[in-house]
Amino acid sequence: MPDTKKTFDSISSNYDIVNELISFGLHKKWKSDFVKLRKFSGNVIDIATGTGDIAIKIKGKYPNVAITGYDPSNNMLNLARKKNTHKDINFLQGFCEDMPFENEFFDIATITFGIRNTKSVNESLTEIRRVLKKNGVLMIMEFSKNETIVIKQLYKIYLHWIIPFVGLLFSKFNEYKYLADSIEGFYSKDEMNKILEFNHFKVMENVQYNFGLVTVYIVMKS
Ligand SMILES: C[S@@+](CC[C@H](N)C(=O)[O-])C[C@H]1O[C@@H](n2cnc3c(N)ncnc32)[C@H](O)[C@@H]1O
Repeated sequence: MPDTKKTFDSISSNYDIVNELISFGLHKKWKSDFVKLRKFSGNVIDIATGTGDIAIKIKGKYPNVAITGYDPSNNMLNLARKKNTHKDINFLQGFCEDMPFENEFFDIATITFGIRNTKSVNESLTEIRRVLKKNGVLMIMEFSKNETIVIKQLYKIYLHWIIPFVGLLFSKFNEYKYLADSIEGFYSKDEMNKILEFNHFKVMENVQYNFGLVTVYIVMKS
């Protein structure tokens, strides 16, 4: 696995536009839907916040929420700070596997398209569990495998050709090849639910988009 901080620092300047292109604009809808799935209150952390879309959307909808956007890439965070029109979002640098927060501090944690880029899903979930209050909620949105033959084959073309090609247009072939490989290597919905349960989270709801190629996991610290 490459150094993800370096990877995201290096693609940050074009991240939003490439994201728009490779998702055919759909990521905006997925993210808008995502923040409608729960009511947010108290202390909230958006982990792997990147350029801050989810943190900014939550703050826009729930001005009284105390929200932290957390990510290892300073360049991504600087873009988030520029995009943020709400004054009081705390954007902070760091890795998910080792967070500088006391136990049971957050009511809700979110992580969109980030957990597959962490060094270890299990270590990340252990740390997220530590910083969540009892009955705290974790919301994950991530790519997920679909085993239907036709969709699997079409998706392979998309991952092996389209994403790296768009990366190449921005002189970032290797970085987008890594991102595409990390999508292909990630878990199916059922596998991820098992991993969440293994890490003592109770699965409350799954929501799927795009033939199940994107899954939301809403789980509670049990
Ligand atoms: C694909 S981007 C997603 C950004 C944003 N959440 C979104 O939905 O657009 C993945 C993000 O994960 C961050 N990341 C990589 N490794 C991480 C880790 N170990 N802990 C937390 N975030 C990490 C990257 O810096 C990057 O900003």
